[in-house]
Amino acid sequence: MSLPKAELHVHIEGTLEPELVMACAQRNSVDLPFRSVEELRARYVFDDLQSFLDLYYLAMDVLQVARDFTEVADGYLARAAAQGVRHAEIFFDPQAHLVRGVPLREVVDGLVASLRTSEQRFGVSTRLIACFLRDKGPQAAEETWEALQPHLEHIDGVGLDSAEVGYPPEDFRGVFERARAAGLHLVAHAGEEGPPAYVWQALDTLGVERVDHGVRSVEDPELVRRLARDRTPLTVCPLSNVRLRTVAALDEHRLPELVDAGVLATINSDDPAYFGGYAGDNFDAVQRDLGFSDAALREFAANSFRASFLPEEQRAAYL
Ligand code: HPA
Ligand code: ZN
Repeated sequence: MSLPKAELHVHIEGTLEPELVMACAQRNSVDLPFRSVEELRARYVFDDLQSFLDLYYLAMDVLQVARDFTEVADGYLARAAAQGVRHAEIFFDPQAHLVRGVPLREVVDGLVASLRTSEQRFGVSTRLIACFLRDKGPQAAEETWEALQPHLEHIDGVGLDSAEVGYPPEDFRGVFERARAAGLHLVAHAGEEGPPAYVWQALDTLGVERVDHGVRSVEDPELVRRLARDRTPLTVCPLSNVRLRTVAALDEHRLPELVDAGVLATINSDDPAYFGGYAGDNFDAVQRDLGFSDAALREFAANSFRASFLPEEQRAAYL
């Protein structure tokens, strides 16, 4: 599906395809517990979010220097552009690299080297969003915020990701307040595996502008009314939800109920190297398995620009 669209929920580390994992492992002399692209790909069967995260954090060990991050981003932008993505708001996980001893400068400089010429090379404008790993706790998030200070000119927003259940958004109120005061955009993963209460906290305690995933909101009619009333966007990732078994099958996904209730939903890829498809593949999948019309897909694409952090006049040009 090459409909022009914005992608608002993609983890750059989750766009690391097995071929690049093996190439980086070799040139950086990183030992991996798998010997080939095929062996790695065979592991892409997940029971839940944590079983995915275990492999996601393991594979990104091959990313050591700026060049590696540049190549990951270049690869993503090329594949996304081929599926109609014209604007991408890209997550990265600073702590996942800092804990391995990779300096933040390598990460940010590497990503920026790709992103800064993305419009000319791929026709894709970009934003960069730094996510805190919620399972490392609020103190570690504060330390990460400090580590990000020299790089803030390249950072457009902060988010919250990694293992959700047991790590409620309200724990991160302090660091989100600091990011807001610094003029950054605020988003958070909530309601992927966690309960609707976490979505409420993301809205009311963190003050996020978008909720990443948010699909479990559908279990709370009051919350659905709130999201619809405020037009707070959800960045839904259908193939991710199937692969991480937050839904049993795509035709059981409750996205249609959210749309019918007036929630501003967008369609995104999350970790496309792992979940079987990029943004356009996710559009195709919801049409095939949930029966969305061409007009409905155009509305999802329009929503992706409405929900983006592009300035109003640029958003309007896509609508
Ligand atoms: N959920 C939470 N954390 C993540 C994800 C996700 O889907 N992908 C990468 N980090
Ligand atoms: Zn995600």
